[in-house]
Amino acid sequence: MKVNVIGLGYIGLPTALTMAANGVDVIGTDYNKELVNTLNQGRVTFEEKGLKELFFNANKMGIKYTTEYQTRDMYVISVPTPYDKFSKKVDAVYVIKAVEEVLNHCNEGAIIVIESTISPGTIDKYIRPIVNKSRFNNIHLVHAPERIIPGNMIYELAHNSRTIGADSKEIGEKVADVYRKITDGEVIVTDIKTAEMTKVVENTFRAVNIAFANELAKICRHDNMDVYEIIKICNMHPRVNILNPGPGVGGHCISVDPWFLVGDYPSLTKVIWESMKVNDSMPEFVLKRISEIMEEKGITDYKRVGLYGLTYKENVDDFRESPTLQLLEFQKTHLAEPLKVYDPFIKKDIVKNQYHNFDEFLNDVDLVVIMVKHDEIKNNINKIKGKVILDTQNICHLDGTYKL
Ligand SMILES: NC(=O)c1ccc[n+]([C@@H]2O[C@H](COP(=O)([O-])OP(=O)(O)OC[C@H]3O[C@@H](n4cnc5c(N)ncnc54)[C@H](O)[C@@H]3O)[C@@H](O)[C@H]2O)c1
Repeated sequence: MKVNVIGLGYIGLPTALTMAANGVDVIGTDYNKELVNTLNQGRVTFEEKGLKELFFNANKMGIKYTTEYQTRDMYVISVPTPYDKFSKKVDAVYVIKAVEEVLNHCNEGAIIVIESTISPGTIDKYIRPIVNKSRFNNIHLVHAPERIIPGNMIYELAHNSRTIGADSKEIGEKVADVYRKITDGEVIVTDIKTAEMTKVVENTFRAVNIAFANELAKICRHDNMDVYEIIKICNMHPRVNILNPGPGVGGHCISVDPWFLVGDYPSLTKVIWESMKVNDSMPEFVLKRISEIMEEKGITDYKRVGLYGLTYKENVDDFRESPTLQLLEFQKTHLAEPLKVYDPFIKKDIVKNQYHNFDEFLNDVDLVVIMVKHDEIKNNINKIKGKVILDTQNICHLDGTYKL
């Protein structure tokens, strides 16, 4: 099966590389010329454990990168699916554009696999009508949602179970055979709407559970209880497994996908809606903690406060929707000068008052707010000794450390 992967971002690139490294004949297409040039010059486009080695192996197997769509047997679409900020519904415009472009290049009988996360019914509502209106009678639509986690993507691509949603068992199995080449996890074939729903449900489950932990943190702060001690004890119950609270939720999955359900089923998603509101309120909660601590410690100048970490999770360079960015955005609404920020993974300037050197950052601040638990800070906790510390990740056990 000859494959054209469309969209070579955080999901599409590792997917294309893993397929190629496992002997699938793959061409990767992205309309971003700079990204394709970088890959063709032999460099990867983002940092991820094991990505460079995989890139090397896939290149050896002959993978190609281009801005042009190809004529192939199977297309794997992994373009963004944001949500509409007002309606909360999935914004399928990138997927629609990609499918339209595929239809300009494919032959009768082609299989179009959508890997992008979409809400239940998206294929029937937005994609099938385009295919039905095309010059073809026999194009197969499939949904194969991705569940890998940044920071461990390459391992998970090779081991996670996969869901393949198709109109017929025959096409589902054909696609499943390609995925069985890249993962030793189970590959399950089901119908399209079930596959669409499973992915959104998985991320919603995570969001709701994180919200529960965040709400506990707020309750415990209100009444001066130690949320971490309480969670530790509760988790000794054989059927309780509470997650850790944190400064908010970012990235392109858990902070986005549950909104698809809220947008499509507004009267049926009370728990989900409240959970998303709780998670979204956490950056503001951290800001409130900062001002309480400043008052307690007699720190009067916001310029002496620094946020450690800009990414949405540890040890990755993806900062989309990150709690730190949300916090800075919230600060802006108060017409305040943004706090100082440092993140070892972000080499470019993306916000004001951003540092690129840990020591320089520490020299310029008295209060350090740990927003992200990168290994760098975990391995250098002694460097922040003597500072006032607000640790939103519960990784610092120095005396006097403030928690959420
Ligand atoms: N990032 C994650 O951790 C993750 C995990 C699971 C699922 N997903 C889902 O995977 C999908 C892709 O996410 P991502 O993080 O890889 O996005 P991304 O923004 O990193 O990459 C998308 C790529 O698609 C390209 N693109 C957009 N439209 C195109 C078009 N019409 N033709 C060719 N190229 C096009 C962009 O240039 C970009 O390089 C989303 O639906 C997301 O929800 C993401």
